[in-house]
Amino acid sequence: MTAPASPPAPGTAPQVAKGLDSVIADETRISEVDGQRCELIYQGYHLDELVGKASYEEVSYLLLYGALPTRQQLAGWTAQLNTHRSLQPEMVAALTQFPRTARPMAALRTAVSLLGLYDTEADEEPVEVFYRKAVNAIAKTPTIVAAIGRLRQGQPPVAPQPELSHAANFLHMLHGCAPSVEQGQALDAYFVLLADHGFNASTFTARAVASTKSDYYSAVCAAVGSLKGPLHGAANRKAMEMLEEIGAPEKVEPYVQKTVADHKRFMGFGHRVYKGPDPRAKHLKEYARRLGEHRGEMKWFAISERLQEAVWNAKKLYINVDFYSASLLHYLDIPTELFTTMFACARIAGWSAHIIEQAANNRLIRPLALYTGPRNLRFVPIDQRPS
Ligand code: CMC
Repeated sequence: MTAPASPPAPGTAPQVAKGLDSVIADETRISEVDGQRCELIYQGYHLDELVGKASYEEVSYLLLYGALPTRQQLAGWTAQLNTHRSLQPEMVAALTQFPRTARPMAALRTAVSLLGLYDTEADEEPVEVFYRKAVNAIAKTPTIVAAIGRLRQGQPPVAPQPELSHAANFLHMLHGCAPSVEQGQALDAYFVLLADHGFNASTFTARAVASTKSDYYSAVCAAVGSLKGPLHGAANRKAMEMLEEIGAPEKVEPYVQKTVADHKRFMGFGHRVYKGPDPRAKHLKEYARRLGEHRGEMKWFAISERLQEAVWNAKKLYINVDFYSASLLHYLDIPTELFTTMFACARIAGWSAHIIEQAANNRLIRPLALYTGPRNLRFVPIDQRPS
C-alpha cells in the first residue's frame, strides 16, 4: 500500500492544486506528455515516429498491448475489429429512436451505455475480459458515430466494408462511398494523433470511474461526458465555428482584436501542459493543408494560418490539437456537429488502455478537498428560520 502524503506542518496552510495543476496522480506506461520538451510518446515511440507510418489499427494495438504488432498479430487484431464493427439490429433500432435534435455527443454517450446493455459480459471483472470490451468499443464507436451522422440527415446507416481500413471505413459509413486515398490517410493520421494523451480530463475521468471497480462501459460513458466540454474535446467544433464566423482571411485581425477586447477565449489555443507548441498540431496542419490542396479549396486553411499568426502576435498563445483538426475534419466533409464525436473515435483506444491499466493495478481515486465553508452552526427549527 502507498503511504499517504504527510499532513501539512502545524500553522502552515495546506496547498490546493486547483484543477489538479501539475499533480502527478499515478504512474502510466501508456503515453508521456512532456510539457517542457513539447513531446508526446506512445509506449516508448515518439509521435513523429508513428504519424504517417503506423495505421490506427497498429497504434490502438500498441496502446493496449504495449508493443507494435507483428504481421500476424496485426492480421488477428484487424480481423477482430472487422468482426465487431457492425452494430447489432437492436442498436440500430435504438439509434433510430433518438431525437433528431439530440447533440451527437449526447447520442454517443447514450449509445455507449447501450453497448454495455447488450454486452452480456459487461459486469465481469477479470481484466482479460476488458480487452474483449475494448475491441468491441474501439470497433463500434466510428460505426455509431457514422450512424448518428446519417440518421441526423434522415439517411439510413451504411454497413461497414471488411476490406477497408478503420479510418476509410468510417468515411465510407458516413458518406456512403469509399474515400480517396488522401482522405483515408488524413483521417487515419488524425485518429493516430488523437489516440492518447496522458491524464487528460476524459482519460482521468475514465480512470476515476474504473478505480471504483465499476464496469468498462460506465468508465467510457463518463469519458464521453468529459470530452463533450468546450475546454476539452468540443474545442474542435468551437474552432470551426470560429473560422466560419471569421469567414475570410482579411477579417482575421479585426476578429482577434474584438475577441481580446471582449476577454473571450480563442478555441483551439492554449494548453495546460505544453509550455510551447503542441506536438500534434504541426502534423494536423500539414494534413489539413494537403486536403485543402487536394480539394482546391484553401480558404479554411488560409483563415486558420492567418489566425494562428494573429493570436500569437496578440496573446503569445500556441495552437493546440483542436485548431487544425477543425479544417482537417471540415475538408473531409464531416459536419461540424460531429467533430467532437470524431475525437472520441480516436481517443477510445487511449481510454480503453487506461481503464485496463487502472483495473490491473487499482487503487481507489479519492483526493481530499480543503473545506472553506462555515463551521459550528446551530440547528434552527424550520418555523424559527427567517422567511
Ligand atoms: N484564449 C484566450 N486566452 C487564453 C486561452 C485561449 N484559448 N487559453 C488560456 N488563456 C489565458 C487565460 O485567459 C488566462 O489568462 P489570465 O491569467 O489573464 O486570466 C491564462 O491564459 C491562463 O488560462 P487558464 O484557463 O488558467 O489555463 P489552463 O491551463 O487552465 O487552460 C485550456 C488550458 C486548454 C483550458 C485553455 O487554454 C483554454 O480554455 N483553451 C481554449 C479551449 C481549448 O482549445 N481547449 C482544448 C484544449 S487541448 C485538447 C484537449 O484537451 O481537448
